[in-house]
Amino acid sequence: MTIVYMKDIVKRYGSFRALDHVDLEIEEGTILGLLGPNGAGKTTLIHSLAGLIKIDSGEIYLFGKKLNENIMELKRQIGLVTQEVTVFEDLTARENLEFFGGIYGLRGAELKQRVNETLSFVGLTDKAKSLPTKFSGGMKRRLNIACALVHRPKLLIMDEPTVGIDPQSRNYILDSVRKLQQQGTTILYTTHYMEEVQTIASQIAIMDRGHVIAKGTLDELIENIQHEERIELEVVNEPTSELLVELENLNGVKQVTQDSKNIQVVSSGGAENVDNVLEIIKKAGGVRSVSAKKLTLEDVFLTLTGKTLRDGEED
Ligand SMILES: Nc1ncnc2c1ncn2[C@@H]1O[C@H](COP(=O)(O)OP(=O)(O)OP(=O)(O)O)[C@@H](O)[C@H]1O
Ligand SMILES: [Mg+2]
Repeated sequence: MTIVYMKDIVKRYGSFRALDHVDLEIEEGTILGLLGPNGAGKTTLIHSLAGLIKIDSGEIYLFGKKLNENIMELKRQIGLVTQEVTVFEDLTARENLEFFGGIYGLRGAELKQRVNETLSFVGLTDKAKSLPTKFSGGMKRRLNIACALVHRPKLLIMDEPTVGIDPQSRNYILDSVRKLQQQGTTILYTTHYMEEVQTIASQIAIMDRGHVIAKGTLDELIENIQHEERIELEVVNEPTSELLVELENLNGVKQVTQDSKNIQVVSSGGAENVDNVLEIIKKAGGVRSVSAKKLTLEDVFLTLTGKTLRDGEED
């Protein structure tokens, strides 16, 4: 079953299109990893999906039903973990969960049971009576996730849930996401961290400038850029801008990136530029090492967007 169906979504702020004809589908039981640099439109996409903002045009179906016609019913089946942690600081962990469970209509023994289960699921049972003000960033995030899970949503939407938290909580969260998937929950997981997407996502969507520019499994995405030739070099002397321009001007070169003495040259397939590149570098002082690198999600991202995901990352 298709859990999320977004077709031709446009969301404007003034004349700026934060979502510019976005299409996205998520099948039941999938963890879709949504990757994109700052400002790509990830949060806007999530907010339109959760019915928090009104789109200008396009269609959204959740669980096969049109969102704007069934909004209350559909919202009940969604859990949203927002980009900013939102918990009540003056309520204990347990009271936070009771509050959110109550919003979703849980009462009495059922509420109590769900609260206990969810506290245990996020590893906060022994902190049930503590106020979040005493929590680390990671613990607050886990409580925040628990609040989104207490009503057992069929679709869990997480907006960069692991930014700026300790590795232990991060692993805990990733494990929890996997467990939820095994229990049948469909998950939309947004992140800047490619390793996370590589390890947990069954499908990956890459967003840039309001567009979903690629979607598939990791292997499929890599397959699509495999026709390229990648040369990585460590050079003796810090490259000058003239040298980089000379590399860029070689036949078939699509992209040259440089980080101090490391250079990456991407050419179209069949360009066979290794000799040409080496010749240029040798004139400029020589090469320490050369390699043809195994392609990763980072390469897919760089090829598609011309940016690294770390650009503009805040933490
Ligand atoms: N309320 C708003 N008014 C005007 N512009 C907005 C508003 N909300 C978002 N934008 C703009 O829309 C674009 C997409 O923003 P969005 O928050 O969806 O990006 P994002 O991919 O979630 O980025 P980040 O990784 O920083 O969270 C950005 O250029 C942003 O400045
Ligand atoms: Mg965002």
